[in-house]
Amino acid sequence: MNTVKAGAAHTAVTSIAPVPGSRRAVSDHFREHFSAMFDEYPIDSYIRLLDETGSDKSMYYSAPEVRAHWQSIVAKWGDEALEIYHRVTMLELMQGFEARAVKHNYPNSIIQLFHQNFARIEKNIATGPVGTYPHHGDNFIKDFSLCRQTAFPGGGAWVVDHAGGFSRKFMFQGGLGQFLRMARLYLFATRGHRPLYSMHIHNELSQGHTLEERQACHLRIVEMMARHPEIKGMYGISWLTDPLIPKVSPRLRWVREIPEANGCEYFRVGIDIEGGALTRSTTRRRLFEEGKYMPTKYLSIWPRKKMMAWARRVTSQPYAPPRVKHHIAPTSVAK
Ligand SMILES: CC(C)(COP(=O)(O)OP(=O)(O)OC[C@H]1O[C@@H](n2cnc3c(N)ncnc32)[C@H](O)[C@@H]1OP(=O)(O)O)[C@@H](O)C(=O)NCCC(=O)NCCS
Repeated sequence: MNTVKAGAAHTAVTSIAPVPGSRRAVSDHFREHFSAMFDEYPIDSYIRLLDETGSDKSMYYSAPEVRAHWQSIVAKWGDEALEIYHRVTMLELMQGFEARAVKHNYPNSIIQLFHQNFARIEKNIATGPVGTYPHHGDNFIKDFSLCRQTAFPGGGAWVVDHAGGFSRKFMFQGGLGQFLRMARLYLFATRGHRPLYSMHIHNELSQGHTLEERQACHLRIVEMMARHPEIKGMYGISWLTDPLIPKVSPRLRWVREIPEANGCEYFRVGIDIEGGALTRSTTRRRLFEEGKYMPTKYLSIWPRKKMMAWARRVTSQPYAPPRVKHHIAPTSVAK
């Protein structure tokens, strides 16, 4: 057995072979390679630290104590060891799903989605080469949040952050009109900036980015809201809700159109070239290069009452394309 000891820092561990098998077998396999690390930094204590320092924060938050914990591990055993440590932590968290789920009071449809996601995550853990699941990677952050249950699966392409809140600074970034609209929404509709659910696209699930899946995800979120009266609504920040998108990528018009016709409001955040708009679409890349499209992020806020009213309408009527009026004049026009 090639056990890695403290002091053998930064030893490459890519020799750890993929080990499909039960959670326990996979965990034991990883533990054997780093027994000293797991003795010195027990997973139970790490999970307690995570719970105590950030379970009410957004999925991208890591407390200073948590970052210090990572740094100690990396200093002694290297980055790859930290990745293995997190894989074992995820296995433990999935094993403890039921106990951790109690406080969230999930409906059955969400519990089923958790188990589907866990099957995908277990495969990544057991068979993904070391180096493909680093703790700072976006796929890891979303999967780790599902395992910790700081996020829940919404179905389709989305995971939903439990504990988000929108930043009030955007009130001051879009002129007087934006200030007044956002202040009104903040004071009278959401009555605060947190907690709101927040949807995020998971890259590994992006084939589920469809109108039907999104609608089903919104309905699951409403089901969760009904069980959690403290949730003030839903918010998101994305280039997908730019009012120019229906012109640039007409296929994506539903992303903004349906919520907007049902009480969701949008606020300009700023230019977002690195945010993914240019990754998949040759059309958007071409328009960007021709100076006809500039990826721009928008904050969306769908207050609880409006979203619940939409859900009541949509579950009692078949879908009809909405009529919308955009608040924000497009800043450039794609041809
Ligand atoms: C967000 C995302 C999942 C949306 O994917 P999507 O619903 O397939 O829509 P896109 O417009 O991005 O599709 C990209 C390409 O896929 C193809 N495509 C998508 N849907 C298609 C369909 N129904 N039929 C044929 N081709 C299709 C097209 O070639 C399109 O390129 P084009 O614009 O040049 O025609 C995808 O753009 C993505 O993963 N982006 C990177 C990450 C990101 O931005 N995440 C969101 C952060 S807020």
